[in-house]
Amino acid sequence: MELGGGFTIFLALFLSCRLVLFAWKRINKWGKLPPGPTPIPFLGNLLQVSSNATFQSLMKLQKKYGPMYTVYLGPRPVVVLCGHEMVKEALVDRADEFSGRGVMAILQRNFHGHGIALSNGERWKILRRFSLTILRDFGMGKRNIEERIQEEAGYLLEEFRKTKGAPIDPTFFLSRTVSNIISSVIFGSRFDYEDKVFLNLLRMINESFVELSSPWTQLYDMYSGIMQYFPGRHNRIYYMLEEIKDFIASRVKINEASLDPQHPRDFIDCFLIKIHQDKNNPHTEYNLKNLVLTAVNLFFAGTEPVSSTLRYGFLLLMKYPEVEAKVHEEIIQVIGPHRTPRVEDRAKMPYTDAVIHEIQRLTDIAPIGVPHNVTQDTHFQGYFLPKGTDVFPILGSVLKDPKYFRYPDAFYPQHFLDEQGCFKKNEAFVAFSSGKRICLGESLARMELFLYFTSILQNFSLRPLVPPADIDTTHLFSGFGNIPPIYKLCLVAR
Ligand code: HEM
Repeated sequence: MELGGGFTIFLALFLSCRLVLFAWKRINKWGKLPPGPTPIPFLGNLLQVSSNATFQSLMKLQKKYGPMYTVYLGPRPVVVLCGHEMVKEALVDRADEFSGRGVMAILQRNFHGHGIALSNGERWKILRRFSLTILRDFGMGKRNIEERIQEEAGYLLEEFRKTKGAPIDPTFFLSRTVSNIISSVIFGSRFDYEDKVFLNLLRMINESFVELSSPWTQLYDMYSGIMQYFPGRHNRIYYMLEEIKDFIASRVKINEASLDPQHPRDFIDCFLIKIHQDKNNPHTEYNLKNLVLTAVNLFFAGTEPVSSTLRYGFLLLMKYPEVEAKVHEEIIQVIGPHRTPRVEDRAKMPYTDAVIHEIQRLTDIAPIGVPHNVTQDTHFQGYFLPKGTDVFPILGSVLKDPKYFRYPDAFYPQHFLDEQGCFKKNEAFVAFSSGKRICLGESLARMELFLYFTSILQNFSLRPLVPPADIDTTHLFSGFGNIPPIYKLCLVAR
């Protein structure tokens, strides 16, 4: 018995020494990172960073450790940046160093560092430059994409009219119409709203976004080394993204069979032409893998954030009917009851513009930001971040920075209005992020949000099924993305 007790003490001492040694080695390996909560070996800061409230946990830690600190997600250290000044200093003032894409373990199995959104280095630069050029050539930020959005908004209004004011869940009404804009750039045409393949793709995009923000994914991100070998819900996103990939690969084949290099019809054609032009370059990034995965990124990013913002916006407008009434008043004054809204109207509609900004601020589509990493050894704020250190620019902490927003948690369109009621820019408005990785689709998204909100509110009033005061605007999940709650509403024709 005595021998057994002695052995237990020896074992406990031995394990403690191993743990201290492990922690010490990790700290040295990772340079001089800013301080943060003490990690437990292997488990990291699991006790401090809750997988079902990542954003809230990180904000709590900010109170204790300041605007820059380190947390361990499992064995991986991540440098967390909070508040406008800190995020700006990294993403804008030190743009090159902080332009790397950090690890998103849950997506790694599908993308393997390919495609515009998850690549790094030369590959990312080439894909970003190319995608931007093609989006511009196909009209992003120009008149012809405006006409496309107006036409598509017209189809949406028809669908809303068919509901005759009965309660509906707006989710797929909105994602079908929004997705058709980016679809016409990628695939050269829109989908019919009843197309079963299209509906299945939208369901998968929507569910993937929910999964991406769910606690299971956050856990996977921390412990992918072990979890990848186990069955479970964390695998769903992998299979859905593979199906979307397969669909796009099949569209690439169809395009290839009818390709006319003189007359590219869409993004896929333009990429295929580049692949043919570059076929003798052994180091080319113009290959089928990058084509398919960049198209997946654009299809996904071009669908979900805008439709989620519209959906969350409806909820806010129903909770604050006086705001909806003022937007409608401005629409009638500037556009009138019948004319189709145009992007140029925005300059004359400061209140509506402010409301859309405020909706985006509270939708806060990527509250903990999409992970970045440093592209080289970086000295920052007196610390040393070795090349490859992951960094989370907490966009939600900027969008709710009390120095820049008087009522950070309230829906208060005046955040974006001056005393005279003119639109007022706010430098902490980073819904699209900032720096070199800033959202590629910002100008397209801004056009879409303005044209959809104004077209819908010109023709319909939004009626909730419960009294406005009872509307709960708490997000369903808050992880990589903020997922708006599921709800129904009635669209009553004006
Ligand atoms: C309300 C709408 C949208 C919001 C709030 C939004 C927000 C964001 C954010 C926060 C990022 C991460 C930036 C970073 O890494 O720091 C991002 C990246 C990206 N977005 Fe958007 N986005 C929206 C719409 C769109 C649309 C319509 C497109 C389609 C063209 C798009 C394409 C992309 C792409 C390709 C990236 C990756 C850029 C890169 O890694 O270089 N987004 N977006």
